[in-house]
Amino acid sequence: MNKEKKWLLWGLLLLMGAVLLTGCGKEKKELEKTSVRIGVSLYRGDDTFINNIRMEMENAAKAYEQSGGIKVNLDIQDAKGNQNTQNNQVERFISLGCDVLCINPVDRTAASAIIDKAMAAQIPVVFFNRQPVEEDMDRWDQLYYVGAVAKESAVLQGNIVVNQYRQDPSSLDTNGDGVVSYVLLEGESSHQDSLIRTEWSIQTLKDGGVPIEKITGGIANWERSQASALMEQWLLQYPDTIELVVCNNDDMALGAIDALDRTGITGISLVGIDATVPGQEAVRSGKLMGTVSADKERYAQAIFMIAAAKALGREIPRDIPLEDGKYFWCPQQILVNK
Ligand code: GAL
Repeated sequence: MNKEKKWLLWGLLLLMGAVLLTGCGKEKKELEKTSVRIGVSLYRGDDTFINNIRMEMENAAKAYEQSGGIKVNLDIQDAKGNQNTQNNQVERFISLGCDVLCINPVDRTAASAIIDKAMAAQIPVVFFNRQPVEEDMDRWDQLYYVGAVAKESAVLQGNIVVNQYRQDPSSLDTNGDGVVSYVLLEGESSHQDSLIRTEWSIQTLKDGGVPIEKITGGIANWERSQASALMEQWLLQYPDTIELVVCNNDDMALGAIDALDRTGITGISLVGIDATVPGQEAVRSGKLMGTVSADKERYAQAIFMIAAAKALGREIPRDIPLEDGKYFWCPQQILVNK
């Protein structure tokens, strides 16, 4: 082959390469989505913490639309505490052609029915806040979970009390009998957070050297009104005895505060978990000794960013580290009135 022919051949090869490359680029651009549809089902739309997460998810979607040029259709539904309703919502999301589902399960042990439907339709699912059992999470590599580590929330909550006791024992042991007498308000018995929070909160008090004695406890299902009723009953049953109210969440602490306000009783300390908007307000006003704040912006952003990446067939961003490739644990911190 003479020199001229060789150059011609090289030129031709380069041209073919360029045509192929631009062709592929075009095809890729045509396949790239310009909008995503995300189906979200909340176990209960009237839950304060879940509502705060919902708001942050809406903010994350708006910010994403503005910065990424992708239209986001966030279809948020309330399952109103009914698993059948939630299953129907999932079916509807699938028939509407959702690219991904974000599910806050009503019954975390019944996630398999949702997983069956999602797997059949090949639609990834981001569960959040109510953790499906491990066997369910292991069924498919397109299942994710976003939440806060229950033991961490509890240890932080316990530390609020430990710190306070170390600074000023008499602020908790108000009758000076050498023990802090407490009552416990617990969340739903079926929720992974309730048991673990209760166990580790109390363990942290013991480990931290706070002399404690349990008066009584009860399940108020995360609800302000149920907690308020229980607290009112305990105040009557155990007059001048309760020094501390350990609450599995802020709403129940606020319920207990409602009961204190109604009866005019003062001098009892309360701790919560969540740092909901009203919870933060109660800390600021001094009615709540402290609470534990899961970074709700980060929490909601993780749910949204995993969902958006899955919907677009992209990699999950590196700043959302996933344990075992599927669990995102939201950072938490103590919030007290300084
Ligand atoms: C907990 C939260 C509660 C309630 C519950 C619902 O993590 O602390 O306030 O929102 O989730 O599943």
